[in-house]
Amino acid sequence: MALLNILRYPDPRLHKVAAPIAQVDDRIRTLAADMLETMYDSEGVGLAATQVDVHERLIVMDVSEERDQPMVLINPELVSVSDEKVVGDEGCLSVPTVYDKVERHARVTVKALDRAGKPFQFEAEGLASVCVQHEMDHLRGKVFVEYLSLLKRERIKVKMIKRTRDEQKP
Ligand code: NI
Repeated sequence: MALLNILRYPDPRLHKVAAPIAQVDDRIRTLAADMLETMYDSEGVGLAATQVDVHERLIVMDVSEERDQPMVLINPELVSVSDEKVVGDEGCLSVPTVYDKVERHARVTVKALDRAGKPFQFEAEGLASVCVQHEMDHLRGKVFVEYLSLLKRERIKVKMIKRTRDEQKP
């Protein structure tokens, strides 16, 4: 197991589109385990492979209170989405300290492969629904701040660049 480096917005690699995973093998299982460890270490509820600079369709999540229900979604796809929308505050491990409102489908049905390569399908609502939509956006190269106004996005860019620079000071 290993902690992975999380790309920080506005790193251009966050905008790469992830490719489907052709084979669920030990390489993918190790990546999923490392991503879960990284997500728990950073106290996040979800992490997409894109964020650790691996451009393949894999996301991990845990939206449970107890942080004991890890989910691994390989090649996730939306089967259906509710017409009803919800607006909630979102954050992202690639955009630390920034939270803002984003509109999402209230409920989604998702299909994916599990760590054994077996297909499964589930319905999500609440935090799970928001999280899966947020993480699937990452796989197509979209960061949640892109839903915000240009002005807000520019401010966030400046803030993140400054934060990264400050962290790199000796
Ligand atoms: Ni994110």
